[in-house]
Order: sequence, then C-alpha cells, then structure tokens
Amino acid sequence: MEYNESYKTKSVGAYAESLHKFVNGTEIIKRAEKSDIRVLDICFGLGLNLAVTIDEALKHNITNKIHIVSVEKDASLLHIVKNTHILMPNAGYKVLRKLINNGIYNNFSLEYYIQDAVEFIYSLDHKFDVIYFDPFSKKHNSEMWSDKMINKLYSLLRDNGVLTTYASSKAIKESFLNAGFNISSLTSLGSRYQPATKAVKK
Ligand SMILES: C[S@@+](CC[C@H](N)C(=O)[O-])C[C@H]1O[C@@H](n2cnc3c(N)ncnc32)[C@H](O)[C@@H]1O
Repeated sequence: MEYNESYKTKSVGAYAESLHKFVNGTEIIKRAEKSDIRVLDICFGLGLNLAVTIDEALKHNITNKIHIVSVEKDASLLHIVKNTHILMPNAGYKVLRKLINNGIYNNFSLEYYIQDAVEFIYSLDHKFDVIYFDPFSKKHNSEMWSDKMINKLYSLLRDNGVLTTYASSKAIKESFLNAGFNISSLTSLGSRYQPATKAVKK
C-alpha cells in the first residue's frame, strides 16, 4: 500500500548515540577483551555512556578488569541514577548502581567524583586506555575545550589510547591535531548529527 508520506526520524535516540560514538567508537570492548583497561568518563551526566559500556561488556562476557574514573559537577544526576530503576539498558544500569554504592562489582570498579571537571582533570596523573569526552558544547562549556585541556587529555592517555567525542568542528579538530592526536570522523548517524571525532594517541 502507498501512503504518500515519508517517515523522517529526528533522532536515533540516546542509546544508539552512546553505543555508536563512545562504545563502538573507542572499540572499548575489543580493548577489554585483550587486557584490563582504565576508562576516564568526562562527564557522567545520567551515566548512559557507562551503562551502555557495562551492558556491552556483560554481553561479551568480558572478564578483564574495567576500572572507571568519572567526574560530574551536578550531584542531583547521581541521585536520579541511584533511584530510577527503569533506566535502560537495564543490566548495565543495574551494575552501575552497584558500582555507585560499593565502588566495585565483579570485574568492574568505579571512582566517582562530584566536582568541577576542569580542576579535577588537571589534578590527574594516572594514565587511561579510553577517554569518553562528553561535556557540554564549546559555546556553553568553553573551559573544557581549551588547548590546555586537550593537551592534558593527550598526556593522560597511554600510547594507542583513544578518546571519542560528539563534537567535530574545525577548531576542535585542530586542537586535537595540535596536541598530537591522529584524528578521524566516525560515520554520521544522520543529518541531525555531527559525525563524532575519534582521537588516537600514536
Ligand atoms: C552531555 S551531558 C553528559 C552525558 C553523559 N556522558 C551520559 O552518558 O549520560 C554533559 C554533562 O556535563 C556536565 N558538566 C558540564 N560542565 C561540567 C564541568 N565543568 N564539570 C563537571 N561536569 C560538567 C553537566 O552537568 C552534564 O551532566
């Protein structure tokens, strides 16, 4: 039957975005299949990137250790994650809630900091394999996108470590290149989305 109407999706949804840009974009599961890994999650928000990561790790029966360090300035979001039991993906959020309460669950562990990400990141010196860089946009959160910050993120990655972010403006890509990253664009999720940026430390 012909309906003479077309279906136009405005968004593929937050879950798909998280899976594509952060979990698949960094190939975190492949990395965790090979060795223990350390993940820096900037900024936690409602924990979706982490819940999707944990969910995928569970589906792939990852047994190597996944240690997560996460920072967020808005404490009310943590409260929502702890108390909202219908968040999806369910299995990922279930483990994330255990990690928020106890810090460790099986092969997963979480250090969670409620503070300004800028001063927190500058205070770090441990290296990471994967960075999820998910602050607000440069327009609203310019201190998170400074050259100084991008250089610091480069220094926090191990060789062959990877960072992904949803942003892809020319200026942001230039900052990543100047810091020493090899950059590429992830495939776009449609016209509503910028193609996310993948930055690898070589
Ligand atoms: C795009 S949301 C993050 C979504 C999150 N990654 C998730 O998976 O649900 C951006 C978050 O950055 C946080 N944020 C913005 N500026 C910050 C800063 N300077 N320090 C810490 N958190 C910040 C906001 O409170 C907001 O929760």
